[in-house]
Amino acid sequence: MGNLFVKKSIDKLLADAEEKDHSLKRVLGPLNLTMLGVGGIIGAGIFVLTGQAAAQYAGPGIVLSFVISAIGCAFAGLCYAEFASMIPIAGSAYTYSYATLGEILAWIIGWDLILEYLFGAATVSVGWSGYVVSFLKDFGVNIPAYLSQSPFAYEVGKGWYATGAVINLPAVLIVSLVTALLVVGIKESANFNNIIVILKIMVIILFIVFGFAYVNSENWKPFIPDNTGHFGHFGWSGVLRGAGVIFFAYIGFDAVSTAAQEAKNPQKDMPIGIMASLFICTILYILVALVLTGVVKYDKLLVPDPIAVGVDAAGEGLFWLRPFIKIGAIAGLSSVILVLLLGQPRIFFAMANDGLLPKVFSKVHPKFRTPYITTIVTGAITALMGGLFPIGALGEMVSIGTLLAFTIVSISVLVLRKTNPEIPRPFKTPLVPFVPIMGAAVSLLQMLSLPIPTWIRLIAWMGIGILIYFLYGYKNSKIRNI
Ligand code: ALA
Repeated sequence: MGNLFVKKSIDKLLADAEEKDHSLKRVLGPLNLTMLGVGGIIGAGIFVLTGQAAAQYAGPGIVLSFVISAIGCAFAGLCYAEFASMIPIAGSAYTYSYATLGEILAWIIGWDLILEYLFGAATVSVGWSGYVVSFLKDFGVNIPAYLSQSPFAYEVGKGWYATGAVINLPAVLIVSLVTALLVVGIKESANFNNIIVILKIMVIILFIVFGFAYVNSENWKPFIPDNTGHFGHFGWSGVLRGAGVIFFAYIGFDAVSTAAQEAKNPQKDMPIGIMASLFICTILYILVALVLTGVVKYDKLLVPDPIAVGVDAAGEGLFWLRPFIKIGAIAGLSSVILVLLLGQPRIFFAMANDGLLPKVFSKVHPKFRTPYITTIVTGAITALMGGLFPIGALGEMVSIGTLLAFTIVSISVLVLRKTNPEIPRPFKTPLVPFVPIMGAAVSLLQMLSLPIPTWIRLIAWMGIGILIYFLYGYKNSKIRNI
């Protein structure tokens, strides 16, 4: 029986990166890196899930959920930064863990990242659909519900049921469009990203600033509605479950680490980029949650476009803001889908190159020079997910999966300090063991607060992954077969 914990050598990884360095320009400073992070973070989480989680789980207490989740992210982010600085090459947690934790854990994290990116893109596509339908409606174009909602829905106590809808067509369309763009090859333009990020931030700031005047403090009473007798349904357990759900809103700061090879000074600037983008988003999210639950009673927020509903509730004085919010959300969500669908094939690609997935996944298109097979497979599965399932179930699945990855990364920092103290760590997680322990504990706490069916789906997903590893990757792994 071969070694399940076989590792890639860090020296080799770094040497490869050095070679590639000649072709990648080191142009990104801390500001650009932060913009990249914020661009990847602000999406369906704040534009959609905040309202839904407030309505179903936490009420105005969703503000506290954002604080709890941000604390967990900050601890885990500091651990992530240590990993990223140890192996500052373009890559992901999959690459880091292959070098430090060994193959089986790398596979588990890689499989988890697939969950994050693939289901994440599907979640955001459903959010995109909600805002597009609402925007078109303002212009008298009505997309019928049976073509714009998910055919399946899930409710506690009721389980899964058919909604009568056929498919969420706008979600399928946006995923298909982005996939087509990615196959043909879209030049990632930092400038274009910057424009969309600024647009997103502007819209959110406009909502906070103008919405604040319309806050009715009665809507905040009670700030934490009484628990209904079920765990996770209001009360403190609801605040905690809210944290697990809106954790989705913070996902994406790892996008910063994928640009490591283009950073001017990765060791110093990457931790800055990760922490600064997290900090900015935390402040914005807390303020949005406060204003949103202040202008409209939380129980009215179980809608596909909560921020737009918040603006409507404020009254005529804010009607002018409606189109801006919707355009900002639509553009902003499109860019998140793009970033996620761009990242996913790279992970498949890396895994296929290591022999853990079939070679066909690393095939590059002869003309467009893009990993077209993985892009199309990813796009097709994402479109199907977005077309069939509700945003809540998809988002919770992404949250629990990513929280698992955060837990593993945090614990690994501790383990590696003991097992491999000699590896140079240009950035060290401060206050070890406190920070990694807190990173793992807060992540685990949020996972535990999520509903049982979400756990079952996670276990099923990981089970499928481990099965694939033993049926395929274990035998075909390149490192093991040298
Ligand atoms: N954080 C990203 C979003 O909220 C994934 O859409």
